[in-house]
Amino acid sequence: MNNPFLGKDVISVLDFERKDLETLFEYADRARKYVEGKLKVLEGKVVALAFFEPSTRTRFSFEVAAKKLGADVISVSGEEATSVAKGESLADTVRMLDNYSDLIVIRHRYEGAAKLAAEFAESPVINGGDGWQHHPTQAMIDLYTVRDLFGSIDGLKYALLGDLRYGRAIISFLYGLAKFNPSKVYLVSPELLKPREEVLRRLNELGLKYESLSALDPIISDVDVIYVSRIQKERFPDPMEYAKVRGSYVVDLKTLSRVKPSLKVLHPLPRVDEISYEVDSTPYAAYFYQARLAIPVRMALIALILGVEI
Ligand code: NCD
Repeated sequence: MNNPFLGKDVISVLDFERKDLETLFEYADRARKYVEGKLKVLEGKVVALAFFEPSTRTRFSFEVAAKKLGADVISVSGEEATSVAKGESLADTVRMLDNYSDLIVIRHRYEGAAKLAAEFAESPVINGGDGWQHHPTQAMIDLYTVRDLFGSIDGLKYALLGDLRYGRAIISFLYGLAKFNPSKVYLVSPELLKPREEVLRRLNELGLKYESLSALDPIISDVDVIYVSRIQKERFPDPMEYAKVRGSYVVDLKTLSRVKPSLKVLHPLPRVDEISYEVDSTPYAAYFYQARLAIPVRMALIALILGVEI
């Protein structure tokens, strides 16, 4: 099999072609057979999780995925737990992890940290989210979820609702979507949370057509997927700016009263208040299922990068 991921760093979803993502998805289909059990294909290998920023799903699902393949996992959570707190540079920390492991997954608050880590590490580096723009594995999971739910990523109408300014998961999903042929993409956000110029420029370069709106209402009955994201409070340089947009959008039963019966609501999680809890028990809610699919997709990615058959 042609393996476009072999030995590669995964820094941005933009670095991969549609056919690469399709290879990953086929591999994830295979990995699903093993999520209940445990393989030994990575016995003797070590996966390092270097999480310098809070995480629940990404860290746990990478850990579970690596262990399901038979690898050992070492991890750091938060700068205070490592010698970074003593003044060690990211480059030196990465060099150390590189000595002890075969694959490094990094999460960091600064844009570019994963790329920097990849420059210093011999082992492949996976970006588990750095700064406000790139979270490639989340985009892979999200696209895989759509493919799983609808049978295809192409031809659907998508509304992306939320923090398109600071949200790396929603922006990475958008970059990923640009590799496919969605029939419509609506970018829905309050003025302060609209995408940056550089993101829009990139979408134009990629040939993705989109329409910007400030509310879901005019298009709600037309879309197949609503991808919701939380406001990224921690990335606002000014708390006053955050106060202006807090609670500015919410998906609740009223919002969903005019939707297509087949509509699915996605969210990378964590949710704060942008989807009401009452939505969880409706057939529209796909976000917990989406979080479950993180395991086979991350298993597939690790196996492909390290070149083992599953
Ligand atoms: C996202 C992240 O960290 O960017 N979480 C995740 O990985 N599922 C989204 C978020 O924090 O809002």
